[in-house]
Amino acid sequence: MSSNVLIVGGGGREHALAWKMVQSPRLRKLFIAPGNPGTAEFGENVSLLPTDLQGLTDFAEANQIDLTVVGPEDPLAAGLTSRFHQRGLPIFGSSCTAASLECSKVFAKHLMDAAGVPTAQYRVFRDFWSAWDYICATGVPLVIKANGLAAGKGVFVCREITEALRALVILMRDRVFGSAGDTVVIEELLEGREVSIHAFTDGLRYCLMPPAQDHKTLSDGGRGPNTGGMGVVAPVPWFSGPENEAAARQIVERTLESMRYRGYEFRGCLYPGLMVTANGSKVLEYNVRFGDPEAQVYMRLLRSDLLEVTEACAAGGLTQPVDWYDGFAVCVVLAAPGYPEKPIGGSPIDGIERAESVPGVVVFHSGTKINQITGELITAGGRVLSVTAIGATLAEAQSRAYRAIGFIHFEEMHFRRDIGAYCQ
Ligand code: AMP
Ligand code: GLY
Repeated sequence: MSSNVLIVGGGGREHALAWKMVQSPRLRKLFIAPGNPGTAEFGENVSLLPTDLQGLTDFAEANQIDLTVVGPEDPLAAGLTSRFHQRGLPIFGSSCTAASLECSKVFAKHLMDAAGVPTAQYRVFRDFWSAWDYICATGVPLVIKANGLAAGKGVFVCREITEALRALVILMRDRVFGSAGDTVVIEELLEGREVSIHAFTDGLRYCLMPPAQDHKTLSDGGRGPNTGGMGVVAPVPWFSGPENEAAARQIVERTLESMRYRGYEFRGCLYPGLMVTANGSKVLEYNVRFGDPEAQVYMRLLRSDLLEVTEACAAGGLTQPVDWYDGFAVCVVLAAPGYPEKPIGGSPIDGIERAESVPGVVVFHSGTKINQITGELITAGGRVLSVTAIGATLAEAQSRAYRAIGFIHFEEMHFRRDIGAYCQ
């Protein structure tokens, strides 16, 4: 049976999902809301925002959408899946209660405690002065986190007491992230290497994706401010077989079981961020969606039919294994000047076609648009393009991605030159 599919979102992650989705022989028509100039090559962009829950539900019903795949967390947290379910529309994405794993650090911490999922020691504070006294008494290092969603900016890793107290003022006194910072989690600082794991799940069964290593800081060598991710590698040579299996058992299985036990069955993509410490892997955070740019490398490595896998998760029937190609995928993000604080857009982009002539390379659009007057492709966001490459070895994938970048140009283009350099 052929299917009409709607992808929700408009960044590099969603372009990668669209690229893979159109390879399904079962796809009839693809829509992307709102999409970007890259996704327009694969389907019809629909001018609806991911947060327009009513608009998306009405659209899916009116256009006989057989499956909707959600990219970002906001529509999940706002309850898009229950609206779809009320109308009998299949959707790949967590319910709003299950999205609490990402939207509430306190919920996630309590669940991990109850389920025996390894994570950092922590305390929860709702009162400014109690938190202040605790920091003064405990000392540093420690990590202070806003309970709610804060666009990736609500986590403060503090090695000085003044930094910790300042973080507290930012979150609880100045309320820079509004109600997201009214409750804070203060936790032990974990030392080690970070890795992302992702699992497709139908709530009961799950299939692990290859581990991935994100590169979060803006500049080479872990310098500069944190970003949404400047590049990623999968699989990760230093985190293979036994570590991955232990993470599956101790983290993914226990989390899914505990969610079911609480009546919050989790369906979709579960993405725990881990710190691999001397005492094993511990969860730093949960996400209830594909990472961006992790999805870009996953779609390059996925051998199975994305439509079939996501449909099976949505329907509660993930009974077939999910297959992956051998080899490695690398993604290097090309960012606009001013990213992450205040990206400057409007610069013409050239060279994508030549970049894609390098073997194994596909370029996904993250923040681009068409200039309505000149018809040119221009920058329109912080992360502009995701340059991906596959290769038999990590070194081959890296060198292909960087060779491709040599052909791309926009004003003051910024990218890290060390994606994959610390992954051995
Ligand atoms: P989160 O949004 O909770 O993943 O935090 C963002 C980043 O802060 C992580 O990717 C880590 O680099 C860092 N981080 C968070 N929690 C801790 C922790 N307990 N110890 C060390 N680093 C942490
Ligand atoms: N790459 C990090 C994230 O998507 O949260």
